Amino acid sequence: MLNFEFHNPTRIVFGQGKVADLARLVPAQARVLVLYGGESARRTGTLDEVRAALGERSVSEFGGIEPNPSYETLMRAVAQVRAEHIDYLLAVGGGSVIDGTKFVAAAACFDGEPWDILLQRGRNVQRALPLASVLTLPATGSEMNNGGVVTRKATQAKLSFSSVHCFPQFSVLDPTKTYTLPPAQIANGLVDAYVHVMEQYLTYPVQARPQDRFAEGLLQTLVEIAPGALAEPPDYHHRANLMWTATLALNGLIGAGVPQDWATHMIGHELTALYGIDHARTLAIVLPSLMQSQRAAKRDKLLQYAERVWHVSGGTEDERIDAAITHTRAFFESVGIPTRLSAYGLGREAVDAVVAQLTAHGMLKLGEHRSITPEVSRAILEAAL
Ligand code: NZQ
Ligand code: ZN
Repeated sequence: MLNFEFHNPTRIVFGQGKVADLARLVPAQARVLVLYGGESARRTGTLDEVRAALGERSVSEFGGIEPNPSYETLMRAVAQVRAEHIDYLLAVGGGSVIDGTKFVAAAACFDGEPWDILLQRGRNVQRALPLASVLTLPATGSEMNNGGVVTRKATQAKLSFSSVHCFPQFSVLDPTKTYTLPPAQIANGLVDAYVHVMEQYLTYPVQARPQDRFAEGLLQTLVEIAPGALAEPPDYHHRANLMWTATLALNGLIGAGVPQDWATHMIGHELTALYGIDHARTLAIVLPSLMQSQRAAKRDKLLQYAERVWHVSGGTEDERIDAAITHTRAFFESVGIPTRLSAYGLGREAVDAVVAQLTAHGMLKLGEHRSITPEVSRAILEAAL
């Protein structure tokens, strides 16, 4: 196992009806800004519940944080925070709203141009306003981690940051809040969480047995619950399992003490920035192709994954690896997410554009061995056409 430090201060308050607990969780004297996305939080009544639970506190609102939150929009929230002397941020939404709130928390306390937070990947964040969340979409794990991803529309740059100051103080996870999600968003959540585990698991062995077994359990849970999580009418226990699995997939636990990849995410972010494809869908395009491209470097873990997650036995080692890749692609397709660029109307010109953006953003040595150069990314994308 590699050396590590593990720290996660986020309190999780899980279960039906738990939004009411905001009354005790948010400090009584807080001047609160509630941040949300488009119309879903209002339409579903969650915003009213939040307001009721906050009672007599001073509460303002900032709506309109878009999927793949933009720097341009978030800077308007920063201006509101400063003008109204806000001292507590409450995100109500999915990963985009929570990520955006983390950025606002850091940017509001930042001296200088806040875009530098993205350029420095958060290393320059020295303080942030306290923040918390009410999660309405299980997928990203943002509710229990310290990372965020922000897009600068003007330059089509989608960059991530993280800081120890950006963990939510608490997150409310009520599985019934997922009942209003369209099936496509449930499918996105299943795939995003799956790929989060893969980024931290499918590298090379370092004798990290609990992390490996835990990661394999999370992957199997996602495969097992997928049909039930997608079923209508929604089933509480399936949605609860999806919600908690997605949180555990990226709260630092399985990533502690192991090498991590994240190349699929970095390539995927460029696809979203250029073409607006949902985050999870970009991952479904890139990962199977990346597994194929990196099959030598990832050989030991691919064989372990084939055997333990998909119960592949028999055949040569290469046949077992082929089967593991086929199962992975089939799982994504089974929840309705296409895994080829062509299915999104993209061809070779997109490959050139993504590779150019990766280069422009300094993504020159991706992956656990820092061996995925822009030319390797090109090969991965060409194989995904
Ligand atoms: O905007 P509204 O109207 O609220 O609608 C949203 C949005 O259109 C809707 N929605 C959310 N909850 C709903 C609902 N609709 C009905 N009922 C509900 N209960 O869903 C749409 C998508 O929301 P979004 O927050 O964008 O989705 P997601 O949670 O998948 O977040 C994606 C963002 O997170 C980043 C991605 O890059 C992307 O920008 N990520 C953040 C990570 C992190 N912080 O650790 C890691 C991830 O890898 C990812 O990169
Ligand atoms: Zn992701």
